[in-house]
Amino acid sequence: MKGIILAGGSGSRLAPSTDGINKHLLPVYDKPMVYYPLSVLMLGGMREIMIVSTPEDRPRFEKLLGDGSELGITLDYREQTDPNGIPEALTISEDFIAGDDVALILADNIFYGQGFTTILRNAIKNHRHATVFGYRVKDPKRFGVVEFDHHQKVISLEEKPEDPKSDFAVTGLYIYDHQAVRMAKKLKYSNRGELEITDLNKNYLKKGQLDVELLGRGFAWMDAGTHESLFEAAEFVKITQQRQGFKLACLEEIAYYLGYISKEALYRKGKSMEKNDYGQYLMEIAERKHTEQYWDSIDHHPMLGLVEND
Ligand code: DAU
Repeated sequence: MKGIILAGGSGSRLAPSTDGINKHLLPVYDKPMVYYPLSVLMLGGMREIMIVSTPEDRPRFEKLLGDGSELGITLDYREQTDPNGIPEALTISEDFIAGDDVALILADNIFYGQGFTTILRNAIKNHRHATVFGYRVKDPKRFGVVEFDHHQKVISLEEKPEDPKSDFAVTGLYIYDHQAVRMAKKLKYSNRGELEITDLNKNYLKKGQLDVELLGRGFAWMDAGTHESLFEAAEFVKITQQRQGFKLACLEEIAYYLGYISKEALYRKGKSMEKNDYGQYLMEIAERKHTEQYWDSIDHHPMLGLVEND
């Protein structure tokens, strides 16, 4: 399965903070926003990942993340000239997807919770055609909203409805089969002048090919798209990290635990940033003597939020 991170857009809701920099490069507490969705795709097992951004910002993402080799993954970059809508990420990446299945994540989405990696990996393993993730929110009007019956079967989907039929938002993480690009190409612009990801999902729904996975109470899902939600996300990261002593979305740590990079590479990366907390954290992990005894396979890995025997 391929991974795509959509990190373009105009960022107008965060102006003037985004007048000089892409929204997804702004920090969420101690690291750039794009680290969070990238960590999700890595935890999901994806190693070939495309970052779609604006022509202006592409070099900045490349400077930040390079070709991915430091993380043991392959990163590629494409440009979205105008913010025409989320499904364009799929058509722009057609040659990269090359008929494969694909997981698309919006770069302002942050997921965190015990067992999330297991849920994600299971969703990927069991997915049929299209899978979206539902999450209960107080303000569903801001999102795509999913309505389902008692058997968790999806009945309807609506984008930013005036009168939401449920409290469940569709998060910005979508798993699609090989049909996605072809279906995305057929979409028409909505009343607000965008190609809508909800329309793509509705088309899967019409064919009886859409599944929804619910993320329960124990999960945190945030989109850092407004000043308020960005601030809240940063607070959440700060409090969680300080309480537990783990960093959220620390890409090098994830790469190390997944066996993509060596202890020496992890230490070297930490050393190159040793004056700051992030670098010291990496060095500390590399120096831990007891880490290996924690797990014998990825499925029993407490550090990555995997649930044992799940
Ligand atoms: O966050 C989840 C929500 O994301 C879903 O519930 C909605 O169904 C979905 O439409 C989307 O709603 P938003 O109002 O958050 O979409 P927004 O236009 O803010 O774009 C989401 C991210 O995608 C944002 O980080 C910018 C990026 N983007 C967006 C568009 C439309 C692009 O890079 N290019 C685009 O053309």
